[in-house]
Amino acid sequence: MRDFNEQNATAAVIERMSAAKDARFRELMTSIVTHLHAVVRDVEPTMDEWMAAIQFLTATGQICDDKRQEFILLSDTLGVSMLLDAINNRKPSGATESTVLGPFHVRGAPPRRMGDTISLDDVGEPTLVSGRVLDEAGQPIADAVLDVWQTSSDGAYDTQDPKQPEMNLRGLFTTAADGRFFFRTVRPSSYAIPTDGPVGKMLIAMGRHAMRPAHIHFIVGAKGYEPVTTHIFVEGDAYLDSDAVFGVKDSLVEPFVLHDDPARATKLGLRNPFYTASRDFRLVRQRAG
Ligand code: BEZ
Ligand code: FE
Repeated sequence: MRDFNEQNATAAVIERMSAAKDARFRELMTSIVTHLHAVVRDVEPTMDEWMAAIQFLTATGQICDDKRQEFILLSDTLGVSMLLDAINNRKPSGATESTVLGPFHVRGAPPRRMGDTISLDDVGEPTLVSGRVLDEAGQPIADAVLDVWQTSSDGAYDTQDPKQPEMNLRGLFTTAADGRFFFRTVRPSSYAIPTDGPVGKMLIAMGRHAMRPAHIHFIVGAKGYEPVTTHIFVEGDAYLDSDAVFGVKDSLVEPFVLHDDPARATKLGLRNPFYTASRDFRLVRQRAG
């Protein structure tokens, strides 16, 4: 093929893939080429603008390491992660809704006993989180595992903040026959996703803020059920309607209720005053395919 031009460019690139062996890969690349060419035709970037885009992607890759994943942040802030989440997690009504995983989950969080605290430095407002893991019929699920993580009260994950003990505000809890779980923690606060990299600059240029409303992350799983990656969001948070990563769903927002009750605080092993929040998780049976 010669005389590649504005009119035949897209067809020419797609035609050049005709020998690709993996049909799904060909489908994917055909769509990417089609949409990428459409963007270029639509916007008609200058050569300098195209170079700026390439430098942005280069910087996004260069800031990534084993703790920092700027491409996930890019996907999250452009709404791609939540769109993928919606497409891949279509659930029957009543099942707990999913939301974004984010880049701060770590594998291998320590197993904890029911009722333990995940706040290893006890800095922040004491909080009891409790609830049940249930099936679609509302029956308790035994041996369900809840993988929990959150920021400290000043809005940093342990992996971002050398002052915090390792595995602070993380833990795995396993339900007994009654499906119940409860653990002690500190009340999460709203926080900014990392802004010291290219995605932060992009947000500023878009006229957006980088805040996420206060939340606790959960991955809840049990044998024979589809795991759900989700959050509890704190009711009343100022950023519920403008989450930087579009992760808020009404069904995931819960009140954090303030109690001034020294006797109950002592019984629960919390400082007074303290907050309580509760949430049941409803899992769907593993479906075929
Ligand atoms: C988080 O909630 O941990 C998170 C999600 C998306 C981007 C950055 C952080
Ligand atoms: Fe988070």
